[in-house]
Amino acid sequence: MRRSSLLLSAVLLAVPVGPLAAQNYFDDVRPVLTQNCVRCHNAEGVAWSMEDAEETYERRRMIARLILDRRMPPWLAEPGHQDYVGDLSLDDETLAVVRSWAEAGYPKGSSRPDVVADAGSAHGPFHPEISLDVLPEEGYLPNQRASDDYRCFLVDWSGETSYVTGFRASPGNRNVAHHVVVYAVDPAMMERYRELDAEEEGAGYQCFGGALPDRLGTRAARAAYEQKYPNGLRELSSSNHWLAHWAPGMDGHVFPEGTGIRLEEGAGLVVQMHYYSSTAPGESDVGTTLDFMVESSVERPAFHLAQTRNDWLVSERSGTMVIPAGTQRSFEIGDDLGDLLGYFSYLSQIPQDQIEALELHSANLHMHSFGHSGEITLRRDTGEVETLLSIPRWDLAWQRDFSFAEPKVLPRESLDDTHLAVRCTFENPTDDTVYGGYGSAEEMCFNFSYIAVRRAPATDDPADPARR
Ligand code: HEC
Repeated sequence: MRRSSLLLSAVLLAVPVGPLAAQNYFDDVRPVLTQNCVRCHNAEGVAWSMEDAEETYERRRMIARLILDRRMPPWLAEPGHQDYVGDLSLDDETLAVVRSWAEAGYPKGSSRPDVVADAGSAHGPFHPEISLDVLPEEGYLPNQRASDDYRCFLVDWSGETSYVTGFRASPGNRNVAHHVVVYAVDPAMMERYRELDAEEEGAGYQCFGGALPDRLGTRAARAAYEQKYPNGLRELSSSNHWLAHWAPGMDGHVFPEGTGIRLEEGAGLVVQMHYYSSTAPGESDVGTTLDFMVESSVERPAFHLAQTRNDWLVSERSGTMVIPAGTQRSFEIGDDLGDLLGYFSYLSQIPQDQIEALELHSANLHMHSFGHSGEITLRRDTGEVETLLSIPRWDLAWQRDFSFAEPKVLPRESLDDTHLAVRCTFENPTDDTVYGGYGSAEEMCFNFSYIAVRRAPATDDPADPARR
């Protein structure tokens, strides 16, 4: 998309004959749509199809407005901080073209065939090896009384211990399925998740805030659970890890070359489906599948680091995340990465003394519906501070990984003084206090970063820790 608009401006610059001819739909705007919109707005895709040029022209006003407001294509990251893989946002030149077209009264020009765009894949081709069904055979009818329904389904990982190197979700019914997040659950804890699943009526369980059932968000339910399993909530939350996700417009997501996330034999998956029921009343989702690329080993094992504060998740009790009625409040948490070395070693299964460096590949902000804006920053041992992600206008529907074109390489020696932080700003327009917690009327503040571990090269020196 960037290339073509550069080309476009080069062409405009090269023709300095009097005032520029007005932009028109077929020559100037239609190519923007075929390259940036049709990948989602097609007959099998989301919302409505833009494949027919004439029909699409009928919606010209709305299209121009959403483009100029930077609401479409959906891309929450503020420009100017990082180069992201698969950046959907339109550059300023393209916006200028659309603006001058709208100002000229949307001239149509003369019809011509579309040039088909090549969407391409960010990190190379997607070759799935394992395919898993998510839903029961009869499918799932989203909750018809709510406009958003978050439902979690448990799926057994069928493979042996292996590394996931690529992921794709194929929603059975894209009229209702909006996005998918997959959490991996440690084998030893899978029975607890099954029990929670069985206790809730219908297929799966309601899970707005992540992998855990919403009903554990109430004080009484939490107390009852902790009575049965002392420290049970903590065990539940620390035994699931963000594995992968899908949102409209993402096809196969291939993890960076040479990296992958380890899944143990016997592990389970919690698949969180976000449904829109109001757009397609009465329609079920049937036949949703997950496809995985796997390898038996990878050069640089990876994981998603989840950053938050546990006491935020029980804020009615802890009082640490409180957003009074009618106010805006910000909350921040950061980690010196050196403090987490033991945890990184556990997740990657690389002994601490063999960790040579970390590669930080992505940032991913997570809040609920009172989220207003947020930033994720990296402070290096040199004191230099970099904005990894800034989302000036939060939208729960479009959360995703923002992967850097070049990973941030953090040498082991620098980790003690390398600080990764997330800051969330919430706005509470209601008459009630909003607390941090798991429920849909509560708030969360998370960063998820994909981090790969570089192992020190083995040497022949028997004293070298990498040989042990
Ligand atoms: C990543 C997928 C994706 C891409 C790319 C995308 N859209 Fe959308 N669009 C959606 C979805 C999904 C919706 C439905 C509403 C929502 O979820 O926000 C939507 C809604 C819309 C709407 C509002 C429809 C309504 O009835 O309210 C317009 C207009 C629109 N898109 C225009 C565009 C244009 C123009 C582009 C390209 C410049 C574009 N979209 C690119 C996914 C996408």
